[in-house]
Amino acid sequence: MEPVRVAVVGTGNIARLHAEALGRLGDEVRLVGAVDVDGARLSAFCDRYDVPARHPDLAGLLEKEQPELVHICTPPGSHHELALACLRAGSNVLVEKPPTLNLAELEELVAAERRYGAALATVFQHRFGTGALRLRAMLDAGVLGRPLVAVCHTTWLRTQDYFDVEWRGRWDTEGGGPTMGHGIHQMDLLCAILGDWTEVSALARQQARRSETEDLSMAHVSFANGAVASVVNSLLSTREESYLRFDFERATVELTHLYGYGDDDWRITPAPEYTDEVLAAWRAGAAGVRSSHQAQFAEVVRSLRAGTPPPVSSVEARRTMRLVAGVYASAFTRRPVGPADLTEASPFHRRMQGDGPRWS
Ligand SMILES: NC(=O)c1ccc[n+]([C@@H]2O[C@H](COP(=O)([O-])OP(=O)(O)OC[C@H]3O[C@@H](n4cnc5c(N)ncnc54)[C@H](O)[C@@H]3O)[C@@H](O)[C@H]2O)c1
Repeated sequence: MEPVRVAVVGTGNIARLHAEALGRLGDEVRLVGAVDVDGARLSAFCDRYDVPARHPDLAGLLEKEQPELVHICTPPGSHHELALACLRAGSNVLVEKPPTLNLAELEELVAAERRYGAALATVFQHRFGTGALRLRAMLDAGVLGRPLVAVCHTTWLRTQDYFDVEWRGRWDTEGGGPTMGHGIHQMDLLCAILGDWTEVSALARQQARRSETEDLSMAHVSFANGAVASVVNSLLSTREESYLRFDFERATVELTHLYGYGDDDWRITPAPEYTDEVLAAWRAGAAGVRSSHQAQFAEVVRSLRAGTPPPVSSVEARRTMRLVAGVYASAFTRRPVGPADLTEASPFHRRMQGDGPRWS
C-alpha cells in the first residue's frame, strides 16, 4: 500500500514531536510538505526532518502537494481557518488540541466535514495508551460494575514567563487558561471513560498569574451514567501531576503521571469480594503501549486506510469542548450548566468567556 501523504502546518515546538512520531511509523506515512509563516523555522524544520516541499502558505501546499492528511500544529487561534481550508480542499485534518477557540467554530468544521467529505480529528493522545484502552474494555465488559465517583486533577506549574509567548493566556488566541489548554487532556480522558456529562458547577479564578484567562478552575461534573467527578485545572502547583481516579462498584482505578503514561502508571485496587475476577481481567487486558502522539497517529492511519472516521472524531472532541465551555459558563454565570445551555443562543457557544469573564 502507498504511504499516507501527510503535511504539517506550523513548525514550532509540538510539530517536532509530530515529525518524529510520523518518522517512527515508517512506510505507513510520508511527510510530503510543511507550512509556516516564519521562514526560518520552516527551513530549520524541513532540513531537520528531510521534508521535500516547504510552503509559506497553506493554499500553495494544498494545491501542489494534495496531502491526504494535514496535521495542524499552529496556535489555537488559527486552527479553525486552517482546518476549514484543508477540509474544503478535500484533505483530512488532524488538529492539535484545542481543535478550535469555541463551539461555534467547531460546529462549522463539523458541517464542513459533511459538505466536503473529509474528516476532522483532534489530538488527544492520552486515549491511546493501553492503560486507557484496557480500562474502557473492562468497563464495557461489566467487570468493574458501575462508575460512582471520579477525580480528574491537572495540577501543573506554569510560571509568569510562560505567558511571555504572545498567544498564551489570551482568550482570542489560546481560547482559555488551564481548563482549555492543559486540563482538557485529562477531561477528555475522563469523558472517554465516563461518556456523556449532564451538568457542571464550576468556579474560575485569576489566583496568581498575570494573564487574561483563568489560572485555576474547579468543577463538579455529573455524568449520564450516574457518576460524579471532581475536576481541578491549575497552573499553580509546584509538585506537578496529572491524576485520574475512578471508583467503580468493584474496584478503584488510578492513573498518576504528568505529560504521558505507561502501563506502570496505572494502579487497580479491587473490592475484596471481586479481587480474582477484576485482577484476572486487568492482567489479560491490552498492554505495552504508552500514551503518545505516535500511538494516536497509528490509529489515525489505520482508520484512514479502513475508510472509518479517524480518532478522536469531531463528535467525541465536541463533547470534551462542551465540557470546557460548561466549566466557563458555570464559573462566569455562577450557576449549574448542562449541554442544553450551550446551544447557539448562548454567549458561551461563540466565546469560551461568554460576554466577558466575571471572576469569583
Ligand atoms: N498534544 C499536546 O500534548 C500538546 C503539547 C503542546 C502544545 N500543543 C498544541 O500545539 C499547538 C501549537 O503549540 P506550540 O507550542 O507548538 O506552538 P509554537 O508557537 O511553538 O509553534 C507554532 C508555529 O505555528 C506557526 N504559525 C502560526 N500561525 C500560522 C499560520 N497561520 N500558518 C502557518 N504557520 C503558523 C508559528 O510561526 C510557529 O512556528 C497548540 O494548539 C498547542 O495547544 C499540544
